Amino acid sequence: MATTISRTAAKPRTAPQSQYLRHTKLPTLMFRTAADADRHVALVVASLVRENNSAGVATVLGLPTGSTPIGVYRELIRQHKEEDLDFSQVITFNLDEYFPMTPDSIHSYNRWMRANFFDHVNVPEENIHIPRGDIAPEDVDAFCDEYERLIEKAGGVQLQLLGIGRTGHIGFNEPGSSRNSLTRMVTLDPQTRRDASSSFFGEENVPTHAVTMGVGTILAAKKIIIMALGEHKAPVVRKAVEGEVTDEVTASFLQKHPHATFVVDEAAASHLTAVKTPWLVGRVDWTPVAEKKAVFWLCRELQKPILKLSGHDFRENHLHDLLAQNGPVEAIRQRVFNGLLNGICTQPAGPDRKTVIVFSPHPDDDVISMGGTLITLADQGHDVHIAYQTSGNIAVFDHDADRHIDFMSELEEYLGTATDKSRAIYAKMKQDLASKKPGACDSAEIQFIKGLIRKTEATLAALIAGVKADKLHFLNLPFYQTGKVEKAPITQADVDIIANLLRSLNPAQIYVAGDLSDPHGTHRMCAKAILQALAVVEPEGFQPEVWLYRGAWQEYEPHEIERAIPLSPEVVDRKKQAIFRHESQKDAPLFPGADKREFWLRAEERTKNTSAVYNSFGLPEFFALEAFVRYRGQL
Ligand code: F6R
Repeated sequence: MATTISRTAAKPRTAPQSQYLRHTKLPTLMFRTAADADRHVALVVASLVRENNSAGVATVLGLPTGSTPIGVYRELIRQHKEEDLDFSQVITFNLDEYFPMTPDSIHSYNRWMRANFFDHVNVPEENIHIPRGDIAPEDVDAFCDEYERLIEKAGGVQLQLLGIGRTGHIGFNEPGSSRNSLTRMVTLDPQTRRDASSSFFGEENVPTHAVTMGVGTILAAKKIIIMALGEHKAPVVRKAVEGEVTDEVTASFLQKHPHATFVVDEAAASHLTAVKTPWLVGRVDWTPVAEKKAVFWLCRELQKPILKLSGHDFRENHLHDLLAQNGPVEAIRQRVFNGLLNGICTQPAGPDRKTVIVFSPHPDDDVISMGGTLITLADQGHDVHIAYQTSGNIAVFDHDADRHIDFMSELEEYLGTATDKSRAIYAKMKQDLASKKPGACDSAEIQFIKGLIRKTEATLAALIAGVKADKLHFLNLPFYQTGKVEKAPITQADVDIIANLLRSLNPAQIYVAGDLSDPHGTHRMCAKAILQALAVVEPEGFQPEVWLYRGAWQEYEPHEIERAIPLSPEVVDRKKQAIFRHESQKDAPLFPGADKREFWLRAEERTKNTSAVYNSFGLPEFFALEAFVRYRGQL
């Protein structure tokens, strides 16, 4: 099953801002946030259903699973419950299912669709069609022929919703799938299996095959909406939208469909020309951020530092308009250079002692992503607290839990504290692990042990960073405690826990992991819970300065960075030692994401890279820099 990023159903309000982007071969509609995009797509689906209901005709929908459409389904469910959206005349055809796969498996797309949509709306059971993963291989061809026939019998798909895989797949039509392919059994691309590996607790547990509607089946739909959300999709969105039509990126075939639209959020659109380098394709509103972005781009293009860029360089490289609007060139150079220089900060919380809270979504994000700043804050005498928002238990290997059970039971035997009861408990826990099916959930006890492993690692790591155990807050937010990769939505209970911490510590400054691209969306949800809590406590007078940092996966773009904290070689070394204390995440972590490097290496290379970039723009040679963005009311 693909990873689920939980987004609460978008609330009804005025139409979200959107724009069709220039320089695309497929109409591409960009929304600022994923929730806005969800709401738009849900509205299109709902309008079609309502229109057809009024006319007394059926609505035939083609449906995807995965992390992308979850918000659309939530909004449709909301409309069903609150606005009488009636699905009784809706016929659905799902895109795909893993093979082999039983429909009740936690990894099954059949189960996913029921849990996330069908169980909450009134699509009649006989109208639901989902490819089967539980039939004999020799029966698959006949099943696929029948699937095509059923689509035809229903009058064809009127609206097909799609996600896009990082291979460019639509459905499970991996690179090499032909334009005319129909519903069939396919072999999954290694990248797709890697991307699904975290949901399956290991790549080896991901099925090698799937049954999918073909490219031809999809293109036969009257109208198609393909969605991509999050910056991890940005490279493939660019290929699909601006690249050649090729079976190497099956989503590119949509360029030839008369009624296909790509719906993206700003993050997924970030590699498109109109967003990345808008001055190449039209007029730009030259805001301070746009100015910085253009100047840094020019530095990179010409491999020149800021202060060496000439008016001629601007004019010759599509930036004459910037010069005309914001010039003279001297003013632009000084503004951008000074902005960069003034962002360098050696006292992140200022000269006077302050209370600071570093919120860490998982128990290691604090040291991996802002460990140097954490050390600096502690060394400068501030009252530094760390709030670990989740236990991170799902990222601990079974063998680590097993070893800790052995450790505990042997220690008890040695101390003479073992009893029949404790022996039975240890034996049961070992049995739970031994009999666990690949990818299945852990028992409550094993989840607790795994959480404890991470808690003790975090405690040691924080100590290296200079933060003692009595300043650590293990919040165990309820939304995370599903035992699965799939999380529950954020509720008041999560928000209350954070609000109470803010009230009790009254920090002057807080740090929030503001990235939107960790593999499971947990960072996104943790950030959301904090921002909701802030909205609650701010009117009560608790108004900390809020700084955002990026998780282990990516750094901010230079034009986004507002504060950069220089790290000395000694601080970088201590940071590395702190990361090493997270033993359960060392070597090959359970959830490495797309990047195979160990966390300490990613952290070190990232901070050194930022200093190299700053250096290339003409700033001095810092050893390493950690980057932050100020929170101004939106992520
Ligand atoms: C799922 C499907 C796939 C997904 C794609 C993106 O039914 O057909 O093509 O849409 O793999 O998955 P997410 O949305 O999880 O990134």
